[in-house]
Amino acid sequence: MTSNHIMSLKAVGMRFGSFQALSDLSFDIDAGEVLGVAGPNGAGKSTLLNVCTGGLCPTSGSVLLDGQDITALPRHSRCSRGIAMTFQIPTVISSLTVAENLLVGRSFGGSHRHDFDAIVEIAGLGDVLGADAGTVDLLTRKAIMLGAALATGPRIVFMDEPLGGLNADEIKRFVRMIDRCRQAFGVTVVMVEHKTRALAEIADRILIINFGKFVCLDRPSVVLNDDHVVEIYLGKKHDA
Ligand SMILES: Nc1ncnc2c1ncn2[C@@H]1O[C@H](COP(=O)(O)OP(=O)(O)O)[C@@H](O)[C@H]1O
Ligand SMILES: [Mg+2]
Repeated sequence: MTSNHIMSLKAVGMRFGSFQALSDLSFDIDAGEVLGVAGPNGAGKSTLLNVCTGGLCPTSGSVLLDGQDITALPRHSRCSRGIAMTFQIPTVISSLTVAENLLVGRSFGGSHRHDFDAIVEIAGLGDVLGADAGTVDLLTRKAIMLGAALATGPRIVFMDEPLGGLNADEIKRFVRMIDRCRQAFGVTVVMVEHKTRALAEIADRILIINFGKFVCLDRPSVVLNDDHVVEIYLGKKHDA
């Protein structure tokens, strides 16, 4: 039996002490899609990304990669199996050059490698490869983090609010970058994002969660016009 699902969550729950941050989440991620994830602050979006990428081990349920149970694997083992993540606050190594930051990414990951020059071109870093990573602007820091994630050779990249802090022009450029990643390397992208207009443009489907629970998962046009979604989320001045 063949399946188009690169990753599946089965009844995933995450409890911090007595607080249930995620409850009974089940859904599949299609290979090659851009899946947007949205929901109010505190809904559990970052927790969900961490459960998928190995930053956290869920307290119930399971996470499958290509049908294989990876629930107990830590982040580095998942990285070598082709799972990468970028963080909400851009993390670069300021004491290294831009090129060296990408090479650090390359030193992790598995046997699969995406072409280094193609990564540099997609991330738009060709002119700043020799610059100290600590001296570049926010968009470039984000591009470095994405480039370093791509350098690990992922099949699926999880991004936590990649557009935060960017202006309208920078958002367009970063969205284009994400799109080119998918076209050049065929990577699957899962992105948590508050900016629903940009999300609607790039995402094939959008998952909405609230209070750690599944609300809906469908095409952007369906999700963003759903009365319940509008009520819990879009009515609350989150759009940009
Ligand atoms: N390590 C943790 N320990 C305790 N509570 C946590 C931890 N991480 C997240 N939470 C709680 O879980 C909920 C979901 O957090 P988070 O996943 O960061 O939400 P979002 O990214 O949707 O804003 C929040 O109430 C947060 O306080
Ligand atoms: Mg978050």
